[in-house]
Amino acid sequence: MFTRFRRKRLNPVLRDLLQETHLTVNDFIYPLFIRSGEGVKNEVGSMPGVFQMSVDEIIKECETLKSLGIYSILLFGIPDVKDSVGSDAMCEHGIIASSIRAIKEAHPDMFVVTDLCFCEYTDHGHCGVLDPVLETVDNDITLGNLAKQALVHAKAGADMIAPSGMMDGMITAIREGLDAGGFSHIPIMSYSTKFASAYYGPFRDVAESAPSFGDRRSYQMNPANRKEAILESLADEAEGADILMVKPALAYLDIVRDIKESSSLPLAIYNVSGEYSMLKMAAKAGVIDYERVMMETMIGFKRAGADIIISYHAKEVAELINK
Ligand code: PBG
Ligand code: ZN
Repeated sequence: MFTRFRRKRLNPVLRDLLQETHLTVNDFIYPLFIRSGEGVKNEVGSMPGVFQMSVDEIIKECETLKSLGIYSILLFGIPDVKDSVGSDAMCEHGIIASSIRAIKEAHPDMFVVTDLCFCEYTDHGHCGVLDPVLETVDNDITLGNLAKQALVHAKAGADMIAPSGMMDGMITAIREGLDAGGFSHIPIMSYSTKFASAYYGPFRDVAESAPSFGDRRSYQMNPANRKEAILESLADEAEGADILMVKPALAYLDIVRDIKESSSLPLAIYNVSGEYSMLKMAAKAGVIDYERVMMETMIGFKRAGADIIISYHAKEVAELINK
């Protein structure tokens, strides 16, 4: 006897008709790592398929992305020189500003989002200017620098700014800076609820941004806190964020659902480096059906409430969607 549920699962056409959650190529933002040079394309051991690239290679990569239907990228810069404040990030000729200009010139139709933080640019690897006594990031001095960095990105042609440093008041500071500089039309996607996570390990190899001492627990969130996770995102909404984010994704899908229900703003999730590497390594070991596990993971993000998925899998997912 086929009853209530199973009679609707018998026919594949009906199964498709009844599918509640759908993935499209429009859901994705693809992260890219830029360093200086020409013809540089270094694969990073901990993230198979992810490269540090020079801008000429990034421009070629954008061609591939567009052919797959992906028109949004999230840029991270790896500067030649790091210092105590992360000057390269605030310089109009720095790695990120010069790359944005070149990418937008070659691909005006590409939507260029920039990660706004200092950990790739400081010699100590922390996400801002250090307070010498507390030996952690000084919140308010860093806010001024974030506003400067945002303006440098916007002037270079960035389409959206994504601050990831978890400083208190960062959205207000960046919004005021952008508005005063004539960039009130540039949206801010805040890494609004970002946890101090071990899942960022492989990213720090790619971005060369591991802290040289200590950790990020005085600015990123405690993974155990649910109420605080909601408050963090609501605070960024109140400060004027245009899009909220939960990061990492997989171990935090309850938080994704909580924030989706607490705010009407669009919500992004960041399917981070460690989550990507786990699937890649499991596939290499021959223990999972990689494509199926990847697609199941992506649909889980959307079902939980994500509107935007930032993922290193984006190209592979697009290939499957387009098939
Ligand atoms: C910079 C930043 C990080 C990630 C995105 N932006 C690293 C960190 O906070 O240490 C992590 C992304 C990933 O793991 O894929 N603050
Ligand atoms: Zn950072």
